[in-house]
Amino acid sequence: MQTIKDIPVRHFDALIIGAGGAGLRAALQLSNADLNVAVVSKVYPTRSHTVAAQGGINAALANVLPDDWHWHMFDTVKGSDYLGDQDAIEFMCREAPRAVYELEHFGIPFSRLENGNIYQRKFGGQSQNFGGEQAARTCAAADRTGHAMLHTLYQKNIQAKTQFFNEHFAVDLIKNEEGGVQGALVFSIESGEPVIIDARTTLLATGGVGQLFRTCTNALINTGDGFGMVLRAGFPVQDMEFFQFHPTGIAGKGMLITEGARGEGGYLVNAEGERFMERYAPNAKDLASRDVVSRSIYTEVKEGRGCGANKDFVYLKLDHLGADVIKKRLPGIRDMCKTFLGIDPIEKPIPVYPTAHYTMGGIPTDINAQVVAPSKHSPEQAITGLYAAGESACVSVHGANRLGGNSLLDILVFGRAAANHMIEYLKENSYHHALDNESLDHAINHLKRWDDDSEGESVPALRDELRAVMEEHCGVFRSKEILSEGVDKVKAIVDRISDARIHDHSKVFNTARVEALELENLAECALATIISALHREESRGAHSRVDFDSRDDQNWMKHSLFHKGDDVPEYKPVRTKPLTVETFPPKERTY
Ligand code: FUM
Repeated sequence: MQTIKDIPVRHFDALIIGAGGAGLRAALQLSNADLNVAVVSKVYPTRSHTVAAQGGINAALANVLPDDWHWHMFDTVKGSDYLGDQDAIEFMCREAPRAVYELEHFGIPFSRLENGNIYQRKFGGQSQNFGGEQAARTCAAADRTGHAMLHTLYQKNIQAKTQFFNEHFAVDLIKNEEGGVQGALVFSIESGEPVIIDARTTLLATGGVGQLFRTCTNALINTGDGFGMVLRAGFPVQDMEFFQFHPTGIAGKGMLITEGARGEGGYLVNAEGERFMERYAPNAKDLASRDVVSRSIYTEVKEGRGCGANKDFVYLKLDHLGADVIKKRLPGIRDMCKTFLGIDPIEKPIPVYPTAHYTMGGIPTDINAQVVAPSKHSPEQAITGLYAAGESACVSVHGANRLGGNSLLDILVFGRAAANHMIEYLKENSYHHALDNESLDHAINHLKRWDDDSEGESVPALRDELRAVMEEHCGVFRSKEILSEGVDKVKAIVDRISDARIHDHSKVFNTARVEALELENLAECALATIISALHREESRGAHSRVDFDSRDDQNWMKHSLFHKGDDVPEYKPVRTKPLTVETFPPKERTY
């Protein structure tokens, strides 16, 4: 086997980093095109975070109520608070029915209506006829849709002979001598052995960075590894100030209670038993978009109408739905409530509070999922060989606030689009270039940095501190004062990370090395998020500034681009022109 700098090298047509829905959908397309595909995943693929998606996937199938992809597009643009790029949103909403039927043919066990059609439930921010009655657009496999999707895609990849590097951690991207990206340095978490994966195309499908916050719905693996890799390679991340807080996490714990619970007819009440969403969103009520519902819950608690001894949560009532609906449509959340709260939602309401859920920002891409980024301060251009899809990408279909049910759609549509573009690129670029020496050294030294066993601060303690600072200083409501203090605190933690060490190398497993590398990625994301939030002086979608409390389309219809080491982001305009239909111009956003 070839080695470079004593490290084994493996050659592939395509490297996919991350085995969630986006990575697996892309891998399937590429393997079926007879390409040689490596998927690197830091966990066994079916443990990727897509497995945790509950409520479903949006597509205008009109199985339950009338629907149309134009209405889906309108809702998504409005939901994004007009920051979403309308060409990408049109592409995603038009593609949605095809993506869902394709998944059906792959064998996903969707829930069914009496007539055999795919079951669709109501979700937040959905409407018929451009803002009219509630729509029912979310295709569901009970409340375990992501689980069903991930297992289906994994099985199809096994059949297609995709090659998996399971429990391997990707450290850094590697460039070639032409300046394009050509693979990555990874290592086996079991043995610690590094491997250079030299691939003519690389797709980042590494998910989001929910672990930036202490209370979140996200798996421990969601540490923004793709964002860290991109920033260290000299490319920016986009719109990181927009982080979604899901309204209904289990209070104090953060685990997700699906929006599908409200879609099935559940509703929120405060300590006075009042159905308070009627005040905040008179039409959509509990099915207003997530940013609106999260702010409403937060306000109820802040104004003293929270429930429980500490008045610090509200209740989600499902007990009026009846045992049959809960057992059939929401069996997973019933199990979770019994396990983690000791209550049965058939009988008692669930204590809930907003919890960090989804990274709207990410690696900037075009609608082919090619990474398009300025090298620092130069014009935007596609980075040869590099792609990103799913939550790690910012294409941007979610803008300032994602609608529930659009993330499973995003991963399918843009996973497939990435693969299609990679196939075309590979036809015309048949050779591997020489790898860039400096880029290799950088990656290898980065991995070796954690071999130093001198004294230093503990990685887990720094991670906990970082997450607490982000929760306190970059949460649902923000202000210049709180954010500025947060920036100083995050920078101080980042300085301390350079002196952190893995303690006692004689006893630790490679998981400690993984935690250290993850902490570095979290820290890169923390800086990008809180600095971008400090500089966006308006309130839009999930970014709510108490000191700039309205949306400012005059000055802020633009995406932020944050480069490693910057104190102020750069900006680029929103793509307001769709592919074939008229633009949806910004309007006041009410539900
Ligand atoms: O509430 C949920 O089931 C989450 C869905 C989503 O984030 O799309």
